[in-house]
Amino acid sequence: MIFKSFKTNELASYRLSIAPMMDCTDRHFRVLMRQITKKSLLYTEMIVAQALHYSKNRNKLLDFDEIEHPISIQLGGDNPNLLAEAAQMAEDWGYDEINLNIGCPSPKVKSGNFGACLMGKPKIVASCIEEMKKSCNLPITVKHRIGIDNLDSDEYLMKFVDSCSSAGADRFIIHARKAWLDGLNPKENRTIPPLQYERVQKLKQKRPNFIIELNGGINTINDCIKALETFDGAMVGRSAYSHPFIWTNIDSIIYGQKEKYLSRSKIIKKIIPYAQKYLDNDGHLWHISKHIINLIENIPNAKKLRQELSEKCQKNKADVYILKKIAQQLEDAGH
Ligand SMILES: Cc1cc2nc3c(=O)[nH]c(=O)nc-3n(C[C@H](O)[C@H](O)[C@H](O)COP(=O)(O)O)c2cc1C
Repeated sequence: MIFKSFKTNELASYRLSIAPMMDCTDRHFRVLMRQITKKSLLYTEMIVAQALHYSKNRNKLLDFDEIEHPISIQLGGDNPNLLAEAAQMAEDWGYDEINLNIGCPSPKVKSGNFGACLMGKPKIVASCIEEMKKSCNLPITVKHRIGIDNLDSDEYLMKFVDSCSSAGADRFIIHARKAWLDGLNPKENRTIPPLQYERVQKLKQKRPNFIIELNGGINTINDCIKALETFDGAMVGRSAYSHPFIWTNIDSIIYGQKEKYLSRSKIIKKIIPYAQKYLDNDGHLWHISKHIINLIENIPNAKKLRQELSEKCQKNKADVYILKKIAQQLEDAGH
């Protein structure tokens, strides 16, 4: 398929971003994505402000590799002071922006009074944004749903974003489905409520000056191109995690960079020095390889190669030789 490049020079990194996903978008996955795209915005998993406050090992929560820039840290919480403190830490640590999670519907998050349930408490959200803005100079963005439970009218959504914007929010990432806080688990809340892009579109029409990114069900580069006809950015979650290789043309197609050919073997080879460094610091190869495995699909022998990678990398003391071998096998087969 032939894609048309956008003819622009400096494009904002948020034109295409890789969504925050717990247990998926850890630093190893982000380093993998950085081999695929230098331009798009990457997000951390959600980090709870309270956990940062009490943590005795903040490095573990906050550290990232220089190559991960541009990177947004996603924070969760409902306490303006703790969020302000976390925002300041994030700025000191070198993050490029801060995102507030108002979209997660999990019961655990709800019991902590943050995530999606805060869509019902716009005053609290506004004071969190205000305090974060005061404490740092980074952009503060908000990721939310089109509604929760019965608070899901167009008017309510608009009131919510207006309130965030007045408090200083710089950008909105809208997962275009509502969340039911009772009755659906987080996975169901990502599939059962229907996607309603038209509602986010209506909001963008009413608030053309707000920077709005669309999220939910964007599964291909073509879907992103379509979203960018209406919105300022497209955020991709599950498809980027499960099928990273289909995103290798992002930088040329979405950001107008010179086209570069990337193969699976090249991507794996580029990760090897990072993996070696991680192993030298007592890391386990599987933490990195569990993400790499998703690169190996849609080619002959994929199942066998995935199995080999999985079995060998899970062993204690697995070393980068396994990655080198798999990369060579892929290269020999023209991948
Ligand atoms: C495993 C998993 C974990 C997620 N964790 C988070 C999270 O920590 N913070 C958040 O805002 N959204 C989280 N999400 C939601 C995604 O960021 C995204 O909004 C959702 O998957 C819809 O986008 P998609 O259809 O492109 O996957 C998670 C999604 C998945 C699948």
